[in-house]
Amino acid sequence: MERILAPSILSADFKVLGEQMELCEKSGAKYLHFDVMDGMFVKNLSFGVPVLASIQGHTGLVMDVHLMIEEPIRYAEAFANAGADILTVHYEACENLQETVDKIHACGMKAGITIKPDTPVDVLMPYLDQAEMFLIMSVEPGKGGQKFIPESLEKIRTLRALLEERGLHTDIEVDGGIGLDNVKTVLDAGANVIVAGSAVFKGDLSENVSEFVRIFEEDE
Ligand code: DX5
Ligand code: ZN
Repeated sequence: MERILAPSILSADFKVLGEQMELCEKSGAKYLHFDVMDGMFVKNLSFGVPVLASIQGHTGLVMDVHLMIEEPIRYAEAFANAGADILTVHYEACENLQETVDKIHACGMKAGITIKPDTPVDVLMPYLDQAEMFLIMSVEPGKGGQKFIPESLEKIRTLRALLEERGLHTDIEVDGGIGLDNVKTVLDAGANVIVAGSAVFKGDLSENVSEFVRIFEEDE
């Protein structure tokens, strides 16, 4: 499966966001991971629709939007209009997940479903053939720069096996605490879309992205 780096702009320098997006793209990233927080589902606030809209058309990166908000169905259309390509919602945040996924598709986006570290993979069973991507959170959602929770590896393995049993080649994204030192174990467990915030934006951005991409190719 294609391995994709999704830099999380939560750790970007917003006064030069345009430049940083360009460097990400030039160095081999394919997605831009856009973390939306509502101060309810998670304690923090981040950014939302107007910021996404301001990026629209200024990059070739795929807009990978991770909604850490209650009842995300309310904003599916707004995010679609602002340029989201993939809209990922939390299992824990949706009253009716099926309806939410259907709405995302009706708005012309790919649907992603994500679970927090304490939520078991089993809850995804009814939706395995419904989403284009599953996101395993490897830290508690809410902020960047946390430590990778090792139990996430088993969840990735289980999910990959469940998908394979059904002949599905769905993307598995992993988000939180991933750096150059542990990304290989995450890939080996069966993930193919890697989110990285601090590990991309701290230090030399281009070098960091290139190094991730090198590991992706080397390990394939
Ligand atoms: C956490 C966010 C992540 C975060 C990852 O709530 O969903 O995308 O920015 O940051 P790092 O890579 O620094 O753990
Ligand atoms: Zn995220």
